[in-house]
Amino acid sequence: MIPRLSSQAHQAGAACPQISSFPWYERIRTAFLIEPGGEDRTPHETFDNDVNSRGKRDRVRVLHNFDRAASIYDSTRSLPDSVMNAVVDAISAELRGSRLVLDAGVGTGRFAGPLRNRGLAVVGLDVSRAMLSEARRKSAADLVRGELLTMPFVNGAFDSCLMIHVLHLVESPTRLLSEIGRVCKSKVLSLAESSDYVSVRENYIRLLTQAGYSWGDLSEQKLTTIVAPTLLKEVISYPVVRKADDDIEYFRNRMSAVTWDVPAEVHERIIRELSSSLGGRVFSFRTTVRLAKWSAVQLRDADLGSAR
Ligand SMILES: C[S@@+](CC[C@H](N)C(=O)[O-])C[C@H]1O[C@@H](n2cnc3c(N)ncnc32)[C@H](O)[C@@H]1O
Repeated sequence: MIPRLSSQAHQAGAACPQISSFPWYERIRTAFLIEPGGEDRTPHETFDNDVNSRGKRDRVRVLHNFDRAASIYDSTRSLPDSVMNAVVDAISAELRGSRLVLDAGVGTGRFAGPLRNRGLAVVGLDVSRAMLSEARRKSAADLVRGELLTMPFVNGAFDSCLMIHVLHLVESPTRLLSEIGRVCKSKVLSLAESSDYVSVRENYIRLLTQAGYSWGDLSEQKLTTIVAPTLLKEVISYPVVRKADDDIEYFRNRMSAVTWDVPAEVHERIIRELSSSLGGRVFSFRTTVRLAKWSAVQLRDADLGSAR
């Protein structure tokens, strides 16, 4: 399996090592690695041996929801080309010198693909077959189907790691950080995004809280306020125009993880309230994307306190 190099990377003389040249490759190959165009042979039970039952329930939710979202995921998350290029440039500049990079929760390969085209050797780990098959279609990375909380990699297998939009999905963020700190030797990168408007998501969470439910939202953005990154720099700030109706529809269809466990009656009431207060409105605002960097050791030993 030879990582693809973009013509630009070829010209620059960059070279990706082959994943098969790493000593731990054989150990995971038969059980976990999805060969390009090949079948994923990993049985579901593979992930059920060494985690507690809460973890299993959590993963079933993730599987169910991401398997159903895979085909539309990119359209809901896509960034304008100029923004995406700036973000990928900033990430790849920080990853320069890393022989092997893990994209933990690679999804459809939104970042792994462009990083690979810049000559970086990226391994993508994810539990959702459907998300991985989107990533495979794009040849985004060497892909491993596996569990983030019990990663199938030896200690220090990777130089660097990406963790983008995954922290809020796992049952134990502390465990995820410690796993990332275990398999990664040097640095961990993420994106912290913020906007100067009150989103449909924030309104949904407010109404959910008023209804007596809680959403423990530990995002990568929030992590930057709990564990001080060694680097936190603005990559780009850009204008966004958004129809509230599109976001309400996304929530109505329970595409956001915030909605997954909300009882039908509460969910429907919140959607009605959102439609009557925000329906038909168009928001113009700015979104700022920051690049955050931590050392692997920092995250391995992170104390998240009450943030789970
Ligand atoms: C919101 S998507 C983010 C994907 C990608 N990082 C991006 O920013 O486009 C989160 C991904 O994490 C995966 N995921 C969530 N929990 C997981 C777990 N416990 N083990 C493995 N993958 C998991 C999901 O299947 C999904 O593909």
